Amino acid sequence: MMPVPMVGRAAALEELRRAWTRVQHTGRAVPAVVTGLPGTGKTTLAAAALQAIDPDRVVRGSARLHTPAPYDWLAAALAGRDVTGLPVPRDALSWLAQDPDVPRERYTPEALLRIAVATVRALVDCGPAVLVVEDLHALDPASLTLIAELAGADVPALLLVTSQPPDAAVSPLLTSRTLARLSGAPGAVRQHLGSLDAEQVRQVLSQVYADHEVTPRMAASVWRRTGGNPYRLSELIAVEGSGGPGALAGEPGDAPATDLTAREREVLGCLVEGMSNKQIAAALGISVRTVTVHVSNLLRKTGAPSRTAVALWAVQRNITEGAAS
Ligand SMILES: Nc1ncnc2c1ncn2[C@@H]1O[C@H](COP(=O)(O)OP(=O)(O)OP(=O)(O)O)[C@@H](O)[C@H]1O
Ligand SMILES: [Mg+2]
Repeated sequence: MMPVPMVGRAAALEELRRAWTRVQHTGRAVPAVVTGLPGTGKTTLAAAALQAIDPDRVVRGSARLHTPAPYDWLAAALAGRDVTGLPVPRDALSWLAQDPDVPRERYTPEALLRIAVATVRALVDCGPAVLVVEDLHALDPASLTLIAELAGADVPALLLVTSQPPDAAVSPLLTSRTLARLSGAPGAVRQHLGSLDAEQVRQVLSQVYADHEVTPRMAASVWRRTGGNPYRLSELIAVEGSGGPGALAGEPGDAPATDLTAREREVLGCLVEGMSNKQIAAALGISVRTVTVHVSNLLRKTGAPSRTAVALWAVQRNITEGAAS
């Protein structure tokens, strides 16, 4: 099965591309803030934007803990980088990078903020670069201050920020202030991602199941099961999707009854009667293990998601004759 394709975000992607053009023309930091509830596709959109923009320089960080240390975004961005040439005081840089051997802070908060900005500026260099800030809502206050400070600064970078709404944040007030400050910067882009609608769910299903017909009814049913949330949709496809879109919709599959062997039809008849595997085994004089094999074959062939669904499928097609009862 192919991975779930991104649908319904073409306009958002185009807007992010235009923001990148503004960075290139103005040489200033342009924030692009993407918010949305969990699983609405913020990270996916940011990744697609990065791929479309294909910048030479990317500086990326995200909150790594529930209660991250100060400047955790910057520490994450510095991790694994060669920082020897950066024009900032070595001990301050070590502290910002969370070097465990640096005992304590010898700078005032204001000085640290200036050094943090200078560090980002040095990382961006002549740019243009993309600064990726994933999950701003989970960042520490010092990182939020740094990100806000960068908005609109003369740093040639797209400040690509994803965040859940402030009420989910570690510091809701500071998060909402930071989001407001970012959104208010010149040329800033502000996008709020909602759920997919039933037609967009149908588009996802049609691409994943290219060899099936996905009817609007199936799409509506999958939309109801997932609320159109892209994360829930992709999970549903991964967990229950092997039987085709009809199975996801809770509908019986469209396998022709002739695909079933005589023994499978007998087992199917027993399922319609509501018998357990043990009862079926006794009724047909076969082992319980053999029954389970027949049942899983029936599920696979019909695309039904459960024993009950396969029984319903049989009743609807009136194909239970031959069952032992
Ligand atoms: N536009 C889309 N169309 C189809 N599937 C999508 C879309 N956006 C995201 N998905 C799928 O939904 C899942 C969740 O997406 P993603 O991780 O981007 O969400 P998120 O908003 O970043 O979530 P979180 O708030 O947890 O960080 C992924 O499996 C992704 O492939
Ligand atoms: Mg995400």
